[in-house]
Amino acid sequence: MIIVLIGYMGSGKSTIGSQLADALEYNFIDLDDYISSSEGSSISDIFTTKGEIYFRKQEHHYLNEILSSKDNTVLSLGGGTPCYYDNMSAIAANANVISLYLKLAIPNLSQRLFNEREKRPLISHIQSQEDLTEFIGKHLFERVQFYSQAKYVINADQKSIKNILEEIIILLI
Ligand code: S3P
Repeated sequence: MIIVLIGYMGSGKSTIGSQLADALEYNFIDLDDYISSSEGSSISDIFTTKGEIYFRKQEHHYLNEILSSKDNTVLSLGGGTPCYYDNMSAIAANANVISLYLKLAIPNLSQRLFNEREKRPLISHIQSQEDLTEFIGKHLFERVQFYSQAKYVINADQKSIKNILEEIIILLI
């Protein structure tokens, strides 16, 4: 079984994913880390030196590699992964995969991301909190059609990590 966590940047996919994997005694894979170590380069460096199109191709390739595994795994995607190629249909159509969308409101995402934007190439150039909120609003509007194809939607606003984990585990049993 592969449990796939989907959500916008800053929605807690990696934190929740690694703790969920511990709780279920599953392997944990963070797709960005997997890409980074396979390519021997940080995500920001891949974007700078090879460009976003190259990154999306590699993201698609490594996603399919992981999805074909038979190991019990929790997989945290990058925020853009569901939105390129046929990635979301591959996830939704795979009988061994359960997908969960960690949904957060725009102001919460903006608050979480503002001080962490440097390592995220798509938002690192944004100067003010207000501009970031506006960017996220537009970006999420384009992406939500992909995220919403997840099997379950978890409303993560104002919930502790513990509560979110409990909610996910109840859905899974
Ligand atoms: C991206 C999200 C990032 C990373 C890359 C592109 C996106 O992952 O894959 O910077 O398109 O939203 P996180 O969601 O883990 O920040």
